[in-house]
Amino acid sequence: MCGIVGYIGNRDSKEVLIEGLKKLEYRGYDSAGIAVFTNNGLEIRKSKGRIAMLEDKLKSEPIEGTVGIGHTRWATHGKPSDVNSHPHTDNSSKFSVVHNGIVENYLDLKDELGAKGHVFVSETDTEVISHLIADEYDGDIVSAVQRAVKRMRGAYALGVLTEYEPTKLVAVRFASPLVIGIGENENFIGSDIPAILEYTRNVYILNDGEMAVLTRSGVELMTTSGDIISKEIFHVDWDLVTAEKAGFDHFMLKEIHEQPKAYRDTMLGRISDDGKSVELKEIGMTTEQIRGISRIHIVACGTAFHAGLVGKTVIESLARIPVETDVASEYRYRSPIITPDTLVIVVSQSGETADTLAALREAKRNGARVLAITNVVGSSVARDADDVITTWAGPEIAVASTKGYSSQLIAFYLLGLYLAQERGTVEEAKVAEIVAAMNKLPDQVESILEQANVFKGVAESMSKHDNLFFIGRGLDFAVAQEGSLKLKEISYIHSEAYAAGELKHGTLALIEDGVPVIALVTQEDLYEKTLSNIKEVKARGAHVLGVANAGYEGEVMKSVDEVFSIPRTLPLLTPALSVVPLQLLSYYASLARGNDVDKPRNLAKSVTVE
Ligand code: M6R
Repeated sequence: MCGIVGYIGNRDSKEVLIEGLKKLEYRGYDSAGIAVFTNNGLEIRKSKGRIAMLEDKLKSEPIEGTVGIGHTRWATHGKPSDVNSHPHTDNSSKFSVVHNGIVENYLDLKDELGAKGHVFVSETDTEVISHLIADEYDGDIVSAVQRAVKRMRGAYALGVLTEYEPTKLVAVRFASPLVIGIGENENFIGSDIPAILEYTRNVYILNDGEMAVLTRSGVELMTTSGDIISKEIFHVDWDLVTAEKAGFDHFMLKEIHEQPKAYRDTMLGRISDDGKSVELKEIGMTTEQIRGISRIHIVACGTAFHAGLVGKTVIESLARIPVETDVASEYRYRSPIITPDTLVIVVSQSGETADTLAALREAKRNGARVLAITNVVGSSVARDADDVITTWAGPEIAVASTKGYSSQLIAFYLLGLYLAQERGTVEEAKVAEIVAAMNKLPDQVESILEQANVFKGVAESMSKHDNLFFIGRGLDFAVAQEGSLKLKEISYIHSEAYAAGELKHGTLALIEDGVPVIALVTQEDLYEKTLSNIKEVKARGAHVLGVANAGYEGEVMKSVDEVFSIPRTLPLLTPALSVVPLQLLSYYASLARGNDVDKPRNLAKSVTVE
């Protein structure tokens, strides 16, 4: 996920571009750059790091001009660096491109263009686009872009400039967002409306396969096949703060709703076309090395640790390797048994958590191979690990992790299947069955989200209590722990998560009239046992909300006060669904208590101290 902007008009374009990029920084912030037509031709300034670094560079190396494009990057292909930053150009430096998306066939295109003499300087897929457009150019930039995109597979929103036609800015979209802002004697492009809202409220929203040719005096819209189209102007009537949250009241709610996309993006390109195997090309271990793993340690903090609890069950049941899951801040101090055939998996959304990083380094010092699951390309964890599985959830801004957690679950499912394939512990048919069920998860999450409002009322009554319990068995217990943390951190209600069968060994003493208990009942083989535990709390006056699989809600309702059903999936995959109602309950409970949902007290998004 990256952000792009573009401007053609009479203002100093760099001011417009920089302001636009700042609004898009939530889409990525590991590097930034702009390209501007100056008196010397097309000039580029770009820099690794935040936009502030680019601003510093522009002070020492100023550029001026009234037409330009800009980009803020969230690295996918190639680590964050000056050379991998956008805008990219071709060998003649006459073309410049900013891109949001992924060109899946970029390696094939790169080989082909390389054979024709094109020389590439970066590791990015985007650089290939600028070469491709240059290669297709025969005096008309619009048709060159049309021919180029026909050859590209994947997702793209592009802003394109060429020195040969300095009065045009070309924009094109497929599967990545792009809007066109209409001004007076000036026009704009942006990955989303906030990037241009300061200058205009009149926009065209491009659909897939559509493009726009912007000049100072107008915007021509067409399809990538060249058919001229007309569109209604969309008048924006909301303010900037709302817009950055895409209409949601809080980043957390937005991020909860982004989970279907995070699931799809994390699976993209990692499942074979026939759906019978998982392909994790990013793992450099040979089959022999994978077969030689004798134990796995999963190490992480907070929510990522809870994902690791699910990961343990997933890997043990599929790949039959013994797994221990540890809190990173404890790991180093318990003298863990780490041997060269130990695989240590560190999990960190931000990739910058100090405890996790310290545990990673300890594992490496002891000779273990380290695999990281992280959401941030180029983060410290990603850089230090031997292998990295990136979760493509996009930047997570709310302190409470939601899509970060659930995309880590997807990464564990992929990893568990991959290890199992390599070790020969699962049949191809089983892999195909799990993969088919995984492919359904995004739509199933969407169906839960459609009922988000149902949780408001329940959460409001929960918010009046000071103590609450989550219970479940097996994977339900793992999810219960995540639900409990989420509730605590943003609603400030004290809650505990218990293995449902463990209550009777002490905690049951805390259950009295009206105490809310959230019971997860999604593991069908443990179903009857969990229902018995629910009856134990009901008998002591608890008010129980059950989370059950569709088809079982009637039966569960006999033992609880309220029930919420989640779509049916394989038992191993239920955490990817059952966590969503718990996230929504926490969100609405926090709201009901009037808390700052996105920035809860005492906490920070990235914890870089031990
Ligand atoms: O960035 P990380 O995944 O390493 O962060 C770990 C924890 O600090 C984080 O999950 C924290 O528990 C969240 N605020 C929970 O919502």
